Amino acid sequence: KFSTKMTKPSVYITREVNKDAVDLLKEHCDVTSWTGPGPVPRDELLKNIENKNGLFCMLTDKIDSTVLDKAGKNLKVIATMSVGFDHLDTQEIKKRGIKMGYTPDTLTDATAELSVALLLATSRRLLEANQEARTGGWKAWSPFWMCGPGLKDSTVGIVGFGRIGQQIARILKSFKPKRIIYYNRSERLREAQEIGAHRVNFDELLAQSDFITLVASLTPETKNLFDESAFKKMKSTAVFINTSRGGLVDQDALVNALQNKIIWGAGLDVMTPEPLPLDHALYKLKNCVILPHIGSAAVETRNEMGLVTARNIIAAFKEEKMPYELIV
Ligand code: DGY
Repeated sequence: KFSTKMTKPSVYITREVNKDAVDLLKEHCDVTSWTGPGPVPRDELLKNIENKNGLFCMLTDKIDSTVLDKAGKNLKVIATMSVGFDHLDTQEIKKRGIKMGYTPDTLTDATAELSVALLLATSRRLLEANQEARTGGWKAWSPFWMCGPGLKDSTVGIVGFGRIGQQIARILKSFKPKRIIYYNRSERLREAQEIGAHRVNFDELLAQSDFITLVASLTPETKNLFDESAFKKMKSTAVFINTSRGGLVDQDALVNALQNKIIWGAGLDVMTPEPLPLDHALYKLKNCVILPHIGSAAVETRNEMGLVTARNIIAAFKEEKMPYELIV
């Protein structure tokens, strides 16, 4: 038990986060943090995790058996300030009896909002058009200049019909698509009925969709789900949006599909690696919109994600129900 006043559990935070979250944590724990710029360097993490009771981490920190070995047997909880957890070796963490926390729900709306913004930016060529306006490409209003596919009467395909996928569907409904279809491991019948979405298999989704938004989690099963054969099954007019994880896409196959007009365009908030090297082929393509992983980057959302992460840690130490325990 860590509840006596004498011994506050120790927690290491791998980044500078919101003051509210740190203050809350400090009421219950001894807190140390990485305060340097960017993610904590690996050697710093390995040094600072030693003998800690809790870890507050980000998706930029790989938490594997090396980190766990360094931490030692006093590590009781690892809470990530993210909904994605592919950076955690969950099996290894579970085996050692360490609790895990994450931040779903909190970021659903912000990420769905960004996914729709990215879809529109890609299909309606917002960045390209802005660039044309700034550089003299805008000569006169022209009937078919800077056109892209509209959502009205289209078929929208959502890959991963969890919280975020469902919210994207709800928002997109107001754009009057003809059909919303989804591909998901489980049925999600009630939510699908409420939204008016239809479950299809993966190949059907690829063949029928005018817009595909990918919001599934990265697992060994979903790695490279969008490969060469998937892009070939898509319409040549299709717009592909990814706001989940870059690892779900075979990126070379995507570059090829965009270069050779196998698909119409792509909007990516995530890729491999992150940050994408500046000389990467994707940056050279006009039909590709690239954002630097900002899906959940709404101020209130990020603050809440920090607080939820702190609350997860505190609850674990108090042996209370964690607000969002990650159970695998
Ligand atoms: C997550 O939480 O996993 C997102 O990628 C960043 O908010």
